Amino acid sequence: MCGIIGISSNKPVSANIINSLKKLEYRGYDSAGIATLSDGQINEVKSEGRVDNLENNFDLKNLRGNIGIGHVRWATHGIPNSLNAHPHSSHNVSVVHNGIIENSTILKKHLINKGHEFKSQTDTEVIVHLITENLKTSELEEAITKTLEQLDGSFALGIVFRDIPDLIVGARRGSPLAVGYGPNENYLGSDSYALKSMTNKITYLDDGEFCVVKKDQVLFFNEDGKKINKKILEMSSNETNYDKGDFKHFMAKEIEEQPITIKTGIKEYIDNVNKEINIFNFPWKIEEIKSITLIGCGTAYHSCLMAKYWFEELTNLDVSIDIASEFRYRKNRFKKDTLYVFVSQSGETADTYAALDLCNKNSMKTCAIVNVIESSIARDSNFVLPIHCGPEIGVASTKAFLGQILVLYILALKLGSLRNEIEKKEYQEKIKDLKDLPGLIEKTLSYDNDIQAISSTFNEAKGSMFLGRGYSYPIALEGALKLKELSYVHAEGYPAGEMKHGPLALIEEGMPVVVLAPKDSYYKKTISNLQEVVARGAKVLLITNKSKDEVVSENIWETIEVENTNDDLFPFLLTIPLQKLAYYSALKKGYDIDKPRNLAKSVTVE
Ligand code: G6P
Repeated sequence: MCGIIGISSNKPVSANIINSLKKLEYRGYDSAGIATLSDGQINEVKSEGRVDNLENNFDLKNLRGNIGIGHVRWATHGIPNSLNAHPHSSHNVSVVHNGIIENSTILKKHLINKGHEFKSQTDTEVIVHLITENLKTSELEEAITKTLEQLDGSFALGIVFRDIPDLIVGARRGSPLAVGYGPNENYLGSDSYALKSMTNKITYLDDGEFCVVKKDQVLFFNEDGKKINKKILEMSSNETNYDKGDFKHFMAKEIEEQPITIKTGIKEYIDNVNKEINIFNFPWKIEEIKSITLIGCGTAYHSCLMAKYWFEELTNLDVSIDIASEFRYRKNRFKKDTLYVFVSQSGETADTYAALDLCNKNSMKTCAIVNVIESSIARDSNFVLPIHCGPEIGVASTKAFLGQILVLYILALKLGSLRNEIEKKEYQEKIKDLKDLPGLIEKTLSYDNDIQAISSTFNEAKGSMFLGRGYSYPIALEGALKLKELSYVHAEGYPAGEMKHGPLALIEEGMPVVVLAPKDSYYKKTISNLQEVVARGAKVLLITNKSKDEVVSENIWETIEVENTNDDLFPFLLTIPLQKLAYYSALKKGYDIDKPRNLAKSVTVE
């Protein structure tokens, strides 16, 4: 993934580059670097680790130059150290790159034979030397066109030139890149978020395009090197809460914001007066849709799995789900009457975008469920349903998950009603129940202390399991994922009924096992599975809803109760204690909760 920034100005740029890099850290935080141009030279500074390290290691205030590029890295080729940090430079050219150059090994050999010397283990360095080589025989635009033709793979690039010191070149294939316009300066950035403090006027590059950014002019070119015109978009200037407020971590804040997330989603999609769901401008007739395929990665994939249960139950449509990185390379049988739904918080995840692109190329019906409405996935889908969560900064997704499942649930209800699969009375009851959901989440959020105490056991154990059936199964997967990504302890989510086919062998005395068992139609079956793990020595944390104290088993280690609601909505409530469990486990271990090791928020490489 990685984040890119470039500024061409009439004043020194290093301070603004640093500020933008801090915003881009959600894309990667293995290393950071800057290159500026001044006095006929390239000034390159880079450090392992966070942008803070870069600031501490160098006197950036005195880094001269009115033009410069910056980068935060999520390592692909080459370990995360300062040598492999971007920018990478030759005597004349300096490059920042997001993506992967798939033919870098062959290109490197060829360039070494021509006398080029390589300093890093990265694939990016070949771009530097290719451009340097092509500039020997071609003018700038031709040299760029030639270089891009020689590269296989995906990239967003920012390039500066010692000998052409008044411009930055940006190029895009696969990885997102935007241009921003300011007073006496123009910008290049991985996304509008990085540029937001400087401008709300943005142009997104499309695949294959490149641009030349000067302080007073921006030119765009297509992949043949021909000049093209592009639209400037005005982004909403609402700078909603990019700081932690009184919270220690963004994740803690984002967990607590979930009642607002749900309230906003409900306000956007539900007409409470008429007990109706408003999904305006839905571009297809209901008869045109016979099946649904939901596609996503990570937490967004868990949202898809959750939605499968609701869509099947409420719409009676054929529903399949797919992990984007699998879908994009499988031989798919595209069907005109399938609605392809892409779920992504960032709207930039490379695999999800590639799956969408494949569907678009096959002229399928595509719908995006995203948080970032200016994102590539939103822009290139036929229809967009935003989740309206506001920025999610913590790498581990929390409020976006609840936002995604809310919109998916609302879509399932609407399609079910349009297909006459739900009786009007039941439909309106379910809409009414939704209205109470923010309050129920709020109450569930207040049960905090038990979870703090319980979390130590998960940290001390060799591993843990998260079990659920039916609607609770996707939430079990999500709970295990949260614990893994934040606390670095092994955790596995499993369908409770599947334990006997293998994983039961893992259960030993004292192993913590979370069992999600709301009193829904799966309850009795789940409790039988719970007994099976208790019998083998597991320490069971039962998460269920409040009810008259019915004794499930005397051997349950701990019980957490969530509020009561209808069966469809338990997944929202069950998610809360699991998010908190992961949060407190990581907090106790002193880990970097908002930026867990080896991960990034927006995954723009495959
Ligand atoms: C990364 C993030 C996850 C997220 C996944 C998909 O792995 O760390 O939290 O679920 O990407 O991201 P998306 O933006 O497509 O939802």
